[in-house]
Amino acid sequence: MAHPYVLLSAAVSLDGFLDDAGPERLLLSGPEDFDRVDEVRAGSDAILVGAGTLRTDNPRLLVGSAERRAARTAAGLPEYPLKATVSASGDLDPGARFWHTGGAKIVYTTDRGAQRLHGLLPADVEVAALGPEVEWRAVLAHLGDAKGVRRLMVEGGGRVHTQLLQQGLADELQLVVAPLFVGDTDAPRMFGPGAYPPGRMRLVETRPVGDVVLMRYVPTAPGTGRQACAADRRWMETACELAVQCPPSRTAFSVGAVIVAADGTELARAHSREGGDPVVHAEEAALAKLDPADPRLATATVYSSLEPCARRASRPAPCARLILDAGVRRVVTAWREPDTFVTAADGSGVLAAEGADVVVLPEYEQRAKAPNTHLLPPPGHS
Ligand SMILES: NC(=O)c1ccc[n+]([C@@H]2O[C@H](COP(=O)([O-])OP(=O)(O)OC[C@H]3O[C@@H](n4cnc5c(N)ncnc54)[C@H](OP(=O)(O)O)[C@@H]3O)[C@@H](O)[C@H]2O)c1
Repeated sequence: MAHPYVLLSAAVSLDGFLDDAGPERLLLSGPEDFDRVDEVRAGSDAILVGAGTLRTDNPRLLVGSAERRAARTAAGLPEYPLKATVSASGDLDPGARFWHTGGAKIVYTTDRGAQRLHGLLPADVEVAALGPEVEWRAVLAHLGDAKGVRRLMVEGGGRVHTQLLQQGLADELQLVVAPLFVGDTDAPRMFGPGAYPPGRMRLVETRPVGDVVLMRYVPTAPGTGRQACAADRRWMETACELAVQCPPSRTAFSVGAVIVAADGTELARAHSREGGDPVVHAEEAALAKLDPADPRLATATVYSSLEPCARRASRPAPCARLILDAGVRRVVTAWREPDTFVTAADGSGVLAAEGADVVVLPEYEQRAKAPNTHLLPPPGHS
């Protein structure tokens, strides 16, 4: 299942509201920011809003710039991104502008909602019934696998943003703060109450856009158990970047590793053969930077671009053992160890046998392999 990259986009007032409580949509962005949003839309494969936003704002969700649309078609893309919405109830106005503008459209709904919508919407709108409830992971899997969506822009509203962030499914938050107040407790807020990933998100950009300020944040807190979250994918990217920094070798893999606390704090990072040690492994070098008594290790996640080793000749303890002995019980990896140096190594099995959760992110396998291609059989040979 290939989840798209999920970008949440919204504008809020200085007092944190998405809109006022009146019937007309409150314009929070200025012309420069609407143009920026148009550019982000043009760079997305799909745009999603909740049914609440369709009912309240009646948006078109188009790419307004003819140049940007031309650039999309020149690149072999549809003129407009796919438009998607979610509605449990199926309470959608068939006359809404959403259905009658732009390109392809899809509604994710419940079986009950699909019954209600039967024959109601224009014939070119796809209605995807996802069972008694609409699970976000099922929506993202369908967008990725069936619709080929790699980049999804989510434009609200508050309930949709809240769920995607709370469920650890947002890869990025693009938040614009507008210089005005709403001051009405009946107005919708950007995020509702509930359990959010712990710790602090990472600020990756701030930029004035006209009289508003854009802030871009990415998640940091690892997932829990065997379920991967957006922050897991970001940390795996870091591990893959570290793997590229390894001194080259013909006798060992190039691997990157990061150890991250449950609240998203990076505890240590390392790569193979770091610091002039010709045999040190990435996970081993990262663990060596930490106090073994650090209480955060018990709830930390180890990210390693290659599965931790189960057996090794160069040192007494393989990395799977070192990780378990450090008390870590969650490991995320991109690539199972091939038979190049050790036959049927199964570091994941060693970890799982002692109760650790092992998550494999196959979408990063090629990146993890990239600095190791000289150690692998050519494609097509096993
Ligand atoms: N400032 C901005 O950037 C911005 C952007 C967008 C929207 N807004 C504002 O946000 C407000 C609307 O926000 P909102 O929170 O009321 O609505 P919303 O998040 O747009 O939509 C909520 C609706 O989406 C459907 N939905 C959400 N999660 C679902 C799930 N897991 N399964 C099935 N259906 C699900 C439900 O539809 P059903 O009720 O049909 O089941 C739910 O009522 C409006 O005032 C709008 O102007 C502001």
